[in-house]
Amino acid sequence: MADILRVGVAGLGTVGASVVRLLQRQAQALSARTGREIVVTAVSARDPAKDRGVDLSGATFYEDPIALAASDTIDLFVELIGGAEGPARASVETALGKGRSVVTANKALLSAHGSALAELAESRHVALAFEASVAGGIPIVKTLREGLAGNSIERVYGILNGTCNYILSRMEAERLSFEDCLKEAQRLGYAEADPTFDIGGFDTAHKLSILASLAFGAKIAPEAVEIEGIERVTLADIDAAGELGFRIKLLGVAQRTAQGVEQRVHPTMVRKTTAIAQVMGVTNAVTIDADAVHELTLVGPGAGGDATASAVVADIADVARGVRSAPFGLPSASLRKLERAPAALHEGGYYIRLAVPDVPGAFAAIATRMAERKISLESIMQHGGRATRRIGDSPVGVILITHATTERLVREALDAIYADGTIAEPAQVIRIERE
Ligand SMILES: NC(=O)c1ccc[n+]([C@@H]2O[C@H](COP(=O)([O-])OP(=O)(O)OC[C@H]3O[C@@H](n4cnc5c(N)ncnc54)[C@H](OP(=O)(O)O)[C@@H]3O)[C@@H](O)[C@H]2O)c1
Repeated sequence: MADILRVGVAGLGTVGASVVRLLQRQAQALSARTGREIVVTAVSARDPAKDRGVDLSGATFYEDPIALAASDTIDLFVELIGGAEGPARASVETALGKGRSVVTANKALLSAHGSALAELAESRHVALAFEASVAGGIPIVKTLREGLAGNSIERVYGILNGTCNYILSRMEAERLSFEDCLKEAQRLGYAEADPTFDIGGFDTAHKLSILASLAFGAKIAPEAVEIEGIERVTLADIDAAGELGFRIKLLGVAQRTAQGVEQRVHPTMVRKTTAIAQVMGVTNAVTIDADAVHELTLVGPGAGGDATASAVVADIADVARGVRSAPFGLPSASLRKLERAPAALHEGGYYIRLAVPDVPGAFAAIATRMAERKISLESIMQHGGRATRRIGDSPVGVILITHATTERLVREALDAIYADGTIAEPAQVIRIERE
């Protein structure tokens, strides 16, 4: 058997402690599969005294993760601290700079600095692996980079944030408001005390930027992601979507178009019949449209200690076997600059909910503004159908579903409608994702 692989793990929280535990539990199987014994010889965290429910007796404790990354006593550095900067970035750069392979679950770090870190890893002939950084336990990085190497990818999209999917699922199932579902998610530990990062779509954007780079052979471009969170989704939208045969999901979508690559994160109408629409609760899913395989959907746990550790350990096993793939599927020099498709040129159907005063001519004026821009309507629904209450001339919820048009035309039509003073409040606009 080849030499022992000496692993240093920095970060012993939810993921780090689970990784150490899984490596210990699967030690025999991993050594049989990789031909090497894999041993955690050193660890780092802030608090050396904390009981982490895992046997660390054989490992040297480092208070400073950068010192661990620099230490010649390890062959592989595993970063599970988190954050785009600070000790996570410094320790990963140190390990790579020292010619040491790195495994990380850190999407924030990858999204911000992935291309530069990949270059550094390549220049030192070491691995940089990050399977756990997107969709937790779902092996989506390997699928895109290796499993689909013979395909040209048109689109990759998915439910990449369990918190948002949990909230939207609960709103639909229990008919609760967004605020109530968020509180419930916080109580159950699915959402942070400050939930902005999740519900604002930023976490999904980090993961999407990594997927886009892998799918399209481009340098990571987080600044090119259009981001809209789920805060404005109401029960009225969830109900209307259901009546029209849709479900609302927060999707991250990266799509090749004639104008370049679209990267967008937003609440999205998906047909209830699609695989992605069936994914409820904290579960994640990713669908890939590719020329040879057509459509492929992977569904699974997107977070949690064990599920994420499964992905981290798979990367560690690759390093043990001596596998060193180009981190983003191509040598760094071949990764092109991602050509950003302008958001205004996005083409697709739209759901538009308007509060229209119940006065003669109000709706006709709206229809005219749409028709002027050749926006054709697939359906028009008074929300709540027959059950809608009309009180005097108070606004009535009207839902329009458009045929494919562009974002620019929709925004122009709405600006004209606002200027006409026809509607009482800003419209709710949700893009419909084509099947
Ligand atoms: N949790 C998930 O389900 C999940 C899923 C996918 C990816 N990830 C990613 O995995 C990474 C870790 O997440 P997590 O949930 O395990 O985080 P966590 O529970 O907050 O653990 C973070 C760990 O880092 C240690 N740490 C923080 N600052 C440090 C410093 N300056 N020096 C040394 N150690 C330091 C902490 O030490 P103490 O314990 O002593 O405070 C703790 O052990 C993040 O990049 C996250 O995005 C997490």
